[in-house]
Amino acid sequence: MKKIVVNSALGILMAGVFTSCGNGNNNESSDSKEASDSSATKVSTAGIQQSDWGETDGKKVFLYTLTNKKGVQVKITNYGGTVTSFVTPTKSGASTSIVVGFEDLSAYLPRLPYFGATVGRYGNRIAKGKFTLDGKTYKLATNNGPNALHGGLKGFDKVVWDAAPLDNANPSLTLHYVSKDGEEGYPGNLKVSVSFTLSDDDELTIDYNAETDKATPVNLTNHSYWNLTGDLKNTILNHTLKIDADKYTPVDTTLIPTGELAPVKGTPFDFTEPHVIGERISSVPGAAPGGYDHNWVLNHKMGTMDKVAELSEPTTGRKLEVYTTEPGLQFYSGNFLDGTIKTSLGTPIQKHAALCLETQHFPDSPNRPNFPSTILKPGEKYHTTTKYKVTLEK
Ligand code: BGC
Repeated sequence: MKKIVVNSALGILMAGVFTSCGNGNNNESSDSKEASDSSATKVSTAGIQQSDWGETDGKKVFLYTLTNKKGVQVKITNYGGTVTSFVTPTKSGASTSIVVGFEDLSAYLPRLPYFGATVGRYGNRIAKGKFTLDGKTYKLATNNGPNALHGGLKGFDKVVWDAAPLDNANPSLTLHYVSKDGEEGYPGNLKVSVSFTLSDDDELTIDYNAETDKATPVNLTNHSYWNLTGDLKNTILNHTLKIDADKYTPVDTTLIPTGELAPVKGTPFDFTEPHVIGERISSVPGAAPGGYDHNWVLNHKMGTMDKVAELSEPTTGRKLEVYTTEPGLQFYSGNFLDGTIKTSLGTPIQKHAALCLETQHFPDSPNRPNFPSTILKPGEKYHTTTKYKVTLEK
């Protein structure tokens, strides 16, 4: 294991940047780097680095490495606005990535379940791929059974964004994309920018901004799959989750909300106190493959930045805190993962290998007048913020 001295933009000398090294602990085997990204072994200085990552759609794709002064490192590509790696330490001093990701662009080009991607124009489902706005009915592709999911056939997760890296005290990357009027069936030219900033407190903050020239639904989120053990051979069933929500939105068999805001009390959806995810997962009602795939109605006031969820994993001591301005949180326990997709080193990504905590507005809001509105109008500014903060409990 190498140690380096980092000379940051501010000229501050830092020592002890960690690199990936397995230490024999079951949950932190050297193989665990295949959860995401073996380039955790590379040493780099605090700041942001750009490297060529190939080309698709006639556009250049880059991989950006954001490193903070403690050596925590997040990699993001402008293909799909995708977080490919988030390397943090464990209590025993190893460092591995806690998100599912791949080393090469080619791995992202086939249809994937949105690993790490920026999802839009509308994250989550719209029933029957249809909504009516200002008297006009819009038809979207139905790419998930009878419903539209995550922006369509070629959503924001499958386009190449323009990128503007900023080597500030906190390294940050801003991605820009213009979604054309009629793209994937949505009205209006939508100018979107998404900024990722890594702080020295191990926080990844994602700011979403958008403007439109016609009224349109907008619901942007990040679709990272977390496994705090850093090793996809482990499932997330032993992780502990707390969600600050007294209600959730029950769904039909196609995962479309019924419209009800139901109390979580007395149900397997009650995470108001921390619960091990595997404890009640088999009693979650719903169609195969079962498990959690629901939107929680967060208790906080929409628009204010509050802590809304906490995920922790005892063997590594890692804790992930989720802060957001959004009114909802989709907790998806990786139910549809079935081992057919493999990590860069060949580990099958099995059912419940990772979970998503997608901050967002509620699913199918364009068809649900009782849900907070997702309609952005010309002259308005869409702005939401979500922060993922990693801490370590020794
Ligand atoms: C949805 C799941 C879906 C997954 C991957 C999640 O946001 O809630 O139902 O399988 O995304 O597409």
